[in-house]
Amino acid sequence: LWTPAQIIEDQVQRVREQVGDRHVLLGLSGGVDSSVVAALLHKAIGTQLTCVFVDNGLLRKAEGDQVMETFAKHMGVKVIRVDAEDLFLGKLKGEKDPEAKRKIIGNTFIDVFDEEASKIEGVEFLAQGTIYPDVIESAASKTGKAHVIKSHHNVGGLPETMKLKLVEPLRELFKDEVRKLGLELGLPYDMVYRHPFPGPGLGVRILGEVKKDYADILRDADAIFIEELRASGWYEKTSQAFAVFLPVKSVGVVGDGRRYEWVIALRAVETIDFMTARWAHLPYELLEKVSNRIINELEGVSRVTYDVSSKPPATIEWE
Ligand code: XMP
Repeated sequence: LWTPAQIIEDQVQRVREQVGDRHVLLGLSGGVDSSVVAALLHKAIGTQLTCVFVDNGLLRKAEGDQVMETFAKHMGVKVIRVDAEDLFLGKLKGEKDPEAKRKIIGNTFIDVFDEEASKIEGVEFLAQGTIYPDVIESAASKTGKAHVIKSHHNVGGLPETMKLKLVEPLRELFKDEVRKLGLELGLPYDMVYRHPFPGPGLGVRILGEVKKDYADILRDADAIFIEELRASGWYEKTSQAFAVFLPVKSVGVVGDGRRYEWVIALRAVETIDFMTARWAHLPYELLEKVSNRIINELEGVSRVTYDVSSKPPATIEWE
């Protein structure tokens, strides 16, 4: 009989057998899969687990603090937080091409993670949040975007250079099973049922060149959108929703003057598999509230638009 408690019991035993008294390293992103692995391994081997959380400056608002709060403070997991915002933004400077940006972010992540890992003594295992669909996907295609996504997320390449053995306790599970495990392990509901967030983060939601002040505006706009989606009950009805920063100036009238400020696009989709998606038919009242709040609360934004493109042909992300 499959119950989350049973799976956890089995995996805890398997991990203990595999690892013994040795040490395990985990790249914690704050996403569901790596979070569940962290909670599971913490239960299995406690202080033999060290997590590395890389803040690349392209995360959602307060995300880094939330990860530290949940894992380090509440659960007592050993988490090393690396503040690498300047490094990532420095490397991205001047780069406008989406795929080049993805590569820079992915490679920089591996460099930072590698460096942190090399400072920790006696690590023999690398834990990864690989789930069953990842296994199928990487067997089916070794090239293309899927592989880029996996290699970024699951830090491909590291085991070779570092000669670490892999610990992958979620390899046989589907996403909905992973979520149930997460709840059973005591992770917060909102973390376990959060919309997916791409590895390159805000790096592909700021069109063209990435700059810190763009990222700061986008983080605030996105937080307002998500807050209102949650308050209205629409967060659960959408599969993914976020704000996009458009680096174009549009006019707005403030007092007696005309001001030229940036444009924010809102994106919300309904989908089962993320291969096709329909734009979410959010109520006008909700869009109106979000738009008013973003324009009134955020200096630097003069206009908000709503994306009414479905996939295909439009992708979910804007880059
Ligand atoms: P698209 O934009 O291709 O997105 O319709 C489909 C799903 O994939 C996510 N996505 C990414 N995830 N690295 C990731 O880890 C990426 O480079 C990337 N690009 C898109 C996107 O958020 C959506 O859930």
